[in-house]
Amino acid sequence: MPGDRDTSVPTERSAERYEGRSRRILYGRRQGRPLRPGRRRLLRELLPEIRIDPPPPGGVLDPAALFAFRPEAIWLEIGFGSGEHLAWQAARSPGVGLLGAEHFVNGVAALLGEIEAHGLDNIRILQGDARALIDALPAESLARVFVLFPDPWPKTRHHKRRLIQRETLTRLATLMSDGAELRIATDDPAYQRWILEQAAHPAVCWLAEGPGDWRTRPADWPPTRYEQKAIADGRRPAFLRFRRQARRESSAAREG
Ligand SMILES: C[S@@+](CC[C@H](N)C(=O)[O-])C[C@H]1O[C@@H](n2cnc3c(N)ncnc32)[C@H](O)[C@@H]1O
Repeated sequence: MPGDRDTSVPTERSAERYEGRSRRILYGRRQGRPLRPGRRRLLRELLPEIRIDPPPPGGVLDPAALFAFRPEAIWLEIGFGSGEHLAWQAARSPGVGLLGAEHFVNGVAALLGEIEAHGLDNIRILQGDARALIDALPAESLARVFVLFPDPWPKTRHHKRRLIQRETLTRLATLMSDGAELRIATDDPAYQRWILEQAAHPAVCWLAEGPGDWRTRPADWPPTRYEQKAIADGRRPAFLRFRRQARRESSAAREG
């Protein structure tokens, strides 16, 4: 299970460099248990039909062109694990095109199972490092971004491996249209503080008005496997929602 803390313990062997960016390393497991034949078939037959192949570094990807219909909006989920949240959102919003990026092959195979079972035609998948997709998307192309339970990397010397960094948020803010929403969940209080520090950013504003706003999962935010395990283990998740400020407002805040 990709969400288990011990599965993300890095080893040099599990570190993967992503093509074109020799200094970027992705830590964490790429594959878990051997896949059942049905899952292997999905990877062989269905994934090539809906896979996102990012362009070479410097290239730009038109996300709407990935779909057989004209999506009313594009949403992105980074590190979707087994994909239950992504599949739920896709079924609930059939007019939206959903992009999912996940490095863990077993998780990708699990999402493919959901896509086939429910006949979902509005999901496209990058199997690999989400940063390849983040680099390639055009500005203002995303209306929602989900980063649910990113690996907390609790040791100080591993903080640089955290997915949520100032640099990532700046890039996501560029990709998000005005008013777009960024949702981040974590069950780690130290990582929550870190996320809020990184998100003290002129381009985004935290939507919480009181603790109830981030302690309670919104109705349109289904639980993930990682969340269920965290709760079973006695941890309390935080559900953080941020709004992309209108561009004129955020440049005024920067100037002021
Ligand atoms: C703790 S798990 C959470 C999974 C899922 N979001 C959930 O809530 O059940 C974090 C996931 O992020 C994925 N991940 C971490 N860094 C990634 C990256 N740079 N690109 C794609 N996936 C990544 C891992 O493979 C793992 O499945």
